[in-house]
Order: sequence, then C-alpha cells, then structure tokens
Amino acid sequence: MNDRIYMSSPDVGELEERAVVDAMRSGWIAPLGPDVDAFEREVAERVGAAHGVALSSGTAALHVALVSWGVGPGDVVPTSTMTFAATANAIAYTGAEPYFVDCDPRTGNMDPALLDEVLAELSGSGERAPVVVPVDLLGKAVDYTAICDSATRHGARVLSDAAESLGATHAGRAAGSFGDASVVSFNGNKIMTTSGGGMLLTDDADLAARARYLSTQARQPVAHYEHTEIGYNYRLSNLLAALGRAQLSRLDEMIARRREMRELYVELFADVEGVEVFGRDGDEHDNVWLTSVLVDRTVSGWSPSELSSWLAEVQIESRPLWKPMHLQPVFAGARSRTTGASEALFDQGLTLPSGSALDADQRSRVQDRIRSFLDAA
Ligand SMILES: Cc1ncc(COP(=O)(O)O)c(C=O)c1O
Repeated sequence: MNDRIYMSSPDVGELEERAVVDAMRSGWIAPLGPDVDAFEREVAERVGAAHGVALSSGTAALHVALVSWGVGPGDVVPTSTMTFAATANAIAYTGAEPYFVDCDPRTGNMDPALLDEVLAELSGSGERAPVVVPVDLLGKAVDYTAICDSATRHGARVLSDAAESLGATHAGRAAGSFGDASVVSFNGNKIMTTSGGGMLLTDDADLAARARYLSTQARQPVAHYEHTEIGYNYRLSNLLAALGRAQLSRLDEMIARRREMRELYVELFADVEGVEVFGRDGDEHDNVWLTSVLVDRTVSGWSPSELSSWLAEVQIESRPLWKPMHLQPVFAGARSRTTGASEALFDQGLTLPSGSALDADQRSRVQDRIRSFLDAA
C-alpha cells in the first residue's frame, strides 16, 4: 500500500488471511459452500433476523429484495435523498420511480413527518407506493419507530438500507433487523468487509427463499437447467464469506477503534467556533462508521473545502457528505420533498479519515495536520 491516508480502508490482517486460505484449501472455491451458510447464520444472529441471504453487494441485495416483492414500472418508492447513489439506482433498476425525501438535519436520516406527507400525497393521487427505503446514514439508524408506523398506516413495506450501519442500534434493536427486510453492505470501505458483498436480512422465510432463488439465476429445482423467470447471478462466493466471518468476529473491536477516532475529532474541534462533529446526539448507538464535521463558514472563517485541500496536500483523504439524490443530474426528473436540510449538510459537511485500520502514526498525522490548519486559520 502507499502512504496515503484514506477515509475508511479495509481493516484486515492475519486472521482474515488464514480464513481465506483455509476456505481455499477446503476445496469450496466454486461459488457457494459452508462458509456462505455459516456467514448467513452468524450475521442474521448478530442482528436478530431469522434469515440472511449472502449476496455479491449491498446494491444487489436492495435490487433483489425489491424484485422479490414485485416492485416494478408504475410503482413509486419513497427513499432518502441523503444517501449514496446505490440506493436510488437499485430502485431505478426495477423500473419503479424513486421519490426523494429530505432528512432530519441532526442525523441526515429520513424525516418521518415528510415521509408521511409523501405517502399521503401518493395515496391521494391513487399511486402505488408498495415499499419505502430509508437509509441509515453514516452508521446511525433511522427513527424506525416513526418510519415503520407511517409505512404501516399507508400499507407500504419497509426495506431498510442498513448498508452503512451494521453494529448500530435503535431503541435497543440492531440495525439490519428493522422493517420487512434490511440490507447490509460489506464493500471495502464499510465497517467490515468481504472485499465486495452484501446481505439481505429478514424474518420472512418466503422473501429469503425467493431472493435466494432469483439471485442464483432463477433455476428451477430440476437436473436440466429450467427457467421460468429472469434471474440474477448475485450470490456471494464461499471465499469471501470466509473473509466475512473473520471480520464479523472483530466487528465490535473495529467499532471501538472508529469511536476512538471520533473522540479524537471531538477533542480537536471542541473549542473551534462554527464547527461541530456531525450526529453527536445519541452517537453511543451508532457504529460510528464515518465521522464528519459541519462547518458554518460564516462563523469559522474557513470552508470545508479549504480544510479538505489542506489535507489533500499531504495525502489525507476527506470528502463532502453525500450529495443529495435530488441534486444529482441523473435523477433530475424524479420527484422530491425537501426542506433544505440535506442541501445544508452537503454544503457544510466534510467527512474525515475514520477507519479502524488507521494506526497511531496515521492518527497523529491527521491530528497534526488539522491542528496546523486551525492554527493558521
Ligand atoms: C447507503 C448505501 N446503500 C447501498 C450501498 C451499496 O452497497 P454495495 O457497495 O455493497 O453495493 C452503499 C455503499 O456502497 C451505501 O452506502
């Protein structure tokens, strides 16, 4: 690897290496195998869901869940505007229309009152909104109590996009266990990784079975290859599941390291006027996947992009918070209900190196560089 400090690089070592080599030596190379079965059980158990379906990505998991429920052209799917494109893309793959809902400015998560308005509007105009997809931003679980209540009143299912929040909780329950189904991601930048991968989690045995079937090319259970529906090649490989099992055994330790990083930023910015660490309210329930700061430049006298450039000069990565989906050119035609909250977060937010793999030297490099910026500001 190089000297660059990334926001969230994979945290893998000897344990993971041994797990992958053991899986390879066991002969289970061809995609599925015992590590996939065990990984599904272990993640499902961790979040308290009855079933897990291990898939090639979080995006695939979102897509196959929607398809399994028959979501398609003519349907409208309310989702968070404050998210990564994968959420909206998965909705678009089905031919349904994403409808972007703004967020609570304190968390960046979907505002339940706005969702309620959107669902009332859609039922008033006779449109079908069979599923709502709220997103747990940066590792903080959505207010599922309010969101699920609203969805239930309007006859919509909830597909929780928990891609970023494995290890977080809401009201004492684990992220990944909410709604009718949840999706987690094991992409390389996530809280734990399988290099690439994801999982659909649900208590619904029929949904799990249908997602399993559709994600293995919709093969009928006969010896010759018989297909009555279009399927997908979306399953996770056994080697990657072995990597995932090793990572899962370290999840709490990795969350603790990310929390230390957040505490470091809290200290660094404690006395800086106009700057706050984003989402501190209730962050003991977060998995603290990424830490961002919000900068009010009229008070601080400097902008998030100035700090970002200062860090980039010495190979330290930082990025703005997600650009809201309703501002993305590709979704320019989509409907949205906005308050300005997500736009303000995009304008003020800067996400800083947060990974659990950052060693003491890298942490001090980040800390010293930010200190020197603040001293010069
Ligand atoms: C909110 C959100 N949803 C979905 C995804 C998609 O997951 P994956 O990269 O595993 O496809 C990601 C991350 O990449 C994400 O951050």
